[in-house]
This record gives sequence, structure tokens and C-alpha cells, in this order.
Amino acid sequence: MSDGLEVEALTVQRGDLTICRDVDLVVPRGEITVLLGANGAGKTTLLDGIAGMLPAASGTVALGGRRIDRLAVHRRARAGLGYAEQGRSVFSRLTVAQNLVVVDRSGSALERAFDLFPRLAERRDVRAGLLSGGEQQMLVVARALATRPTVLMVDELSLGLAPQMVRTLVDALVELAASGVGILLVEQFVEIALAVGSIAHVMHRGRIVRTDTCAALLAERTSALSPYYLGGAGGSSGGSAGGTATPADDEN
Ligand SMILES: Nc1ncnc2c1ncn2[C@@H]1O[C@H](COP(=O)(O)OP(=O)(O)O)[C@@H](O)[C@H]1O
Ligand SMILES: [Mg+2]
Repeated sequence: MSDGLEVEALTVQRGDLTICRDVDLVVPRGEITVLLGANGAGKTTLLDGIAGMLPAASGTVALGGRRIDRLAVHRRARAGLGYAEQGRSVFSRLTVAQNLVVVDRSGSALERAFDLFPRLAERRDVRAGLLSGGEQQMLVVARALATRPTVLMVDELSLGLAPQMVRTLVDALVELAASGVGILLVEQFVEIALAVGSIAHVMHRGRIVRTDTCAALLAERTSALSPYYLGGAGGSSGGSAGGTATPADDEN
């Protein structure tokens, strides 16, 4: 177990506000772990806390059995933690190949990216700004792989994409997991994620409120999940306005 990512009792704040409270989470290598929850539940904040972009107020993060929670962002990355951030974009004026070379001069990132996404190989000399949304997300994932992560966190790749493209991207994640990478997948296409994941965690107001096998959650379908999505702005984007997206709401 200790060869993956282990998060224990992690509490993450933004400024003075506690957004994620007391989160326990394991991401074993070789499988896909799914993190679900409505807009504003705190998923991105949790990932930012794990990656070191936000400081942890308390709790621990370990990778491969080694504590990384005191390390700076780039050192966590070097330790093997990959992060394809929500809304991350590519260098639009650089070509596909150049986008990969700037994160890894050795050229091996290029090779591995083209292996995983043959589509990117066909487009290697095209400026990234001219790629389709799905192709750009392939490139975002490929860039996150440049450091050869043992665990990769992927935050809502699907924003604005058609389900078919989401499947293509998720299929690549399945292939990555089969090669031994542990994947933590945040995905609004819940059923696509549950179909490929092993364990799923449901986050609500900054806490993990349910952990189960993806198969069990998929069997229950929306009945299991709708309580957490109702009132959470539910749909594709723009959710946190209007007072429904509430951070961990206790004794501040
Ligand atoms: N940059 C930010 N500054 C202040 N509050 C934020 C910021 N980003 C998110 N939040 C708040 O933190 C809570 C959790 O947001 P987020 O982690 O983005 O949730 P999710 O990824 O599950 O949609 C929400 O209440 C949101 O409004
Ligand atoms: Mg988010």
C-alpha cells in the first residue's frame, strides 16, 4: 500500500477559511481512485493541498512511504507526484512538440506522450492553440507525465468536452494505471469515472462523506450520489456563486 499516495487527516485552508477538513485518502499505484462531489465541495482545494500549492493546516501526505507534506510544490513533483490541474492550459503559441520539450528536454516525455496519445503525434508540429479542446487536454495530461509520476492527480479534464472525448482521455488514464501509475481522478462525468475506477470517495462540504467501491456506487447510480449533488450547483460550470457552495462548516 505504501507505494502509492497516502493522505491522513489533511485539513486545507484558503486564507482563514477551512475548506477541507480531516481528509483520509489512499491512492494505490496501478489503479484509478475516484473523487466525486458537487461544485464547491472542495475537491480542487484538496488536490492543491496535496500538491503543496496550498499549505496544510494539519495532517500528513506521504508518497511511496515517504512524507512529502513539508516539501515545496516542485519537490513533491520530483518525488513522483503529478498534477493535471483544473483549467490548466497549454502554451498556445508553441507547437505540441515544443510544449513537451519545455517540460522535459530529454525528449522521452515526447515519446511517451505520443505513445499514449497517437493523436498528439499526428499534430506534433501544430501550434497548441489550434488544437481542439480534447487534444489540448491530452497535452495537459502529457505534460503532467513529463516528471514520470508514480501518482497522477487529474482534476476535471472534461470541462466543456463531449462525452466521447472524455472516454478517449479516460481510456488513456486506464492505460497509464495498467502501467503502474496510481491515479486520483476528479470527474464530473460520474458514470465514466466510476466505470474505470476501483474505489470512490464522495466529498461534501470539505469532508469525505462516503467511500465505497466504484462498482457499488455505479450499481446504486444517482440515488447514492444525488444528496451530495443537489444544491451543489450540479452542472458543468460556474457553480460557486449563490451560496450553495459551502466550505467545511463547523467550529471556525
Ligand atoms: N481561490 C479561491 N479563493 C477563495 N475561495 C475559494 C477559491 N477557490 C475555491 N474557493 C472556495 O472553496 C470552496 C471549494 O472550492 P473547490 O475546491 O474549487 O471545490 P470543487 O473543486 O469541489 O468544485 C468553495 O466554497 C469555493 O468557493
Ligand atoms: Mg474543482
